[in-house]
Amino acid sequence: MKKQKRILTGDRPTGRLHIGHYVGSLANRVRLQDEYDSFIEIADIQALTTHFERPELISDSILQVTMDNLSVGLDPNKVTIFLQSQIPAIAELTIFYSMLTTVNTLRHNPTVKSEAAQYGYDDMSYGFLGYPVSQAADISFCNADLVPVGEDQRPHIELCRKIVRRFNDMYSPNEPLLTEPEILIGDFPRLPGLDGNAKMGKSLGNAIYLSDPPETVHQKAMSAVTDPSRIRKTDPGHPEVCTVATYHQVFTKEEYEDIVARCRAGEIGCVACKKRLSNSLNTLLAPFRERRAYYENHLDEVRQIIEAGNDRANAIGNALSSRMKECMHLTLKGGAQ
Ligand code: TRP
Repeated sequence: MKKQKRILTGDRPTGRLHIGHYVGSLANRVRLQDEYDSFIEIADIQALTTHFERPELISDSILQVTMDNLSVGLDPNKVTIFLQSQIPAIAELTIFYSMLTTVNTLRHNPTVKSEAAQYGYDDMSYGFLGYPVSQAADISFCNADLVPVGEDQRPHIELCRKIVRRFNDMYSPNEPLLTEPEILIGDFPRLPGLDGNAKMGKSLGNAIYLSDPPETVHQKAMSAVTDPSRIRKTDPGHPEVCTVATYHQVFTKEEYEDIVARCRAGEIGCVACKKRLSNSLNTLLAPFRERRAYYENHLDEVRQIIEAGNDRANAIGNALSSRMKECMHLTLKGGAQ
């Protein structure tokens, strides 16, 4: 039996994680790791749905993304980090759930739609269209109660809740076998990219990575898009259209009101404002860099953390999958009529 409530969340290993991931989800993971039994999935199968032609990028990113999670302060003695492809129960649940989801539901999923547009798919693979079903399996194989994610993941959590309800209603109506998970959105649901794009993205070239060295963070902060109508320092600024102002709101919280007021009054120039941002970011990232350096020198330890996580996830997943098969009458126990 579960003693503590569970968290399940995950990352696609298609590159390193950035500060958008941190404010959207990772900060919540760290904050809640004592309160919840937390599962962090490295979603390598889901990464295949868009990066099936780049298996070496996925395999390099598995350890990087694991180190991203460890570097922000997740304690490997508290959380379970595991690799999706090593958990057969997740693949089984994906197939079961695929019967409980219609193609039109998937076609109309707003996140699937915008990602399909981003990747330029006019037609798309069965696996890509169906990845939210597989994500429902990720979340429910351990009966997670809470899923800390960014706002873009909301349609997937809604779908998972729907699937879980259908499964319970149909196959275990007396005593629900599966848990309907709640979503938990981070402080700042969607961080814009350095270029002003609505989303900071691994594949959009507009991200500050958790593993970027201080000089890179500084250069990137200096290159961020600001209010285009502001030419001279004395011109009144419009923080509501400035990416740097948005970042200050998240990363320089206490001074935000002051910075914005001085920008509007033309008292602080964009260069000074960006320098301040680069300081805030580097202050946040400094302890992350320190922890990361340790793990980079102990990669075998990182692999062992994942292996231990896989063992625990498999014990839980296999037990649940067997019970699901019984509920679905996928057993030899039935009699001949
Ligand atoms: N789709 C998520 C993303 O792109 C990653 C993910 C995979 C995930 N499985 C999950 C998130 C389960 C939460 C729960 O960031």
